Amino acid sequence: MTLVSLRGVAKHVVLPDDSRLDILHGIDLDVEAGDHVAIVGRSGSGKSTLLNILGLIDMPSAGSVAFEGRSVSRMRSGALDRMRGRTVGFVFQQFNLLAGRTALENVAMPLGYATGREFWRRTDIAAAMLERVGLGHRLDSPPERLSGGEQQRVAIARALVRRPSLILADEPTGALDVHTGSVVMGLLDEIASETDAALVTITHDLHVAARARRHFRLEEGRIAPADLDRAFRESTLAAEVPE
Ligand SMILES: Nc1ncnc2c1ncn2[C@@H]1O[C@H](COP(=O)(O)OP(=O)(O)OP(=O)(O)O)[C@@H](O)[C@H]1O
Ligand SMILES: [Mg+2]
Repeated sequence: MTLVSLRGVAKHVVLPDDSRLDILHGIDLDVEAGDHVAIVGRSGSGKSTLLNILGLIDMPSAGSVAFEGRSVSRMRSGALDRMRGRTVGFVFQQFNLLAGRTALENVAMPLGYATGREFWRRTDIAAAMLERVGLGHRLDSPPERLSGGEQQRVAIARALVRRPSLILADEPTGALDVHTGSVVMGLLDEIASETDAALVTITHDLHVAARARRHFRLEEGRIAPADLDRAFRESTLAAEVPE
């Protein structure tokens, strides 16, 4: 089943001096249930912008977005918010955890918008998810008392606590050492495959990208299939060039 489908998606913004900045051009992309897609590209190439559009946080300036076959531009904002809350789990580039709230409160937050059992049992469900990411002993710690890797795992628990069908991860290993990064990616892969969720990962790290089934590169707002083997060869060559 196609979860989200972009056709001819473009995005531009108007800057304070009235000039126009084109961020994305003519993006066609389909993400299926159970898919694992990696998107690589230079800083400023439009990766976070694209992820925000896939996750219904941002709207394109042109082109169409269909989510579970429904055209997003035709949906009312309340319905869109509910659909996003139920189906999309975001792991943000800057974690976006609430300071001064415990890890448990942070992870339980998305369940505050749920109904029925998910709502009434939100504390237990959040605690079980934190247990799952190896933080069962830090439920009462606020983010400012956790390490970068621990904060990233809280952010992942929060993204996954409603069992979303689409998981969007923006540089999920950017702040982590190689070992913690691979633990975090292992967790994302594992939980995504348990629920047949689609996982879209943005990364600068070719090893992280290589875990995905399909790979794309964004270059100045245009998307194309990425040749990871070539990228690996070139990065090895670059590393071998003497100073
Ligand atoms: N709301 C906005 N107003 C003005 N410029 C914006 C806005 N959003 C994004 N941009 C610009 O669009 C370009 C793409 O931004 P985006 O955040 O998508 O890049 P990115 O590929 O995620 O970069 P990074 O790897 O550094 O996170 C950047 O030049 C950014 O400054
Ligand atoms: Mg970004």
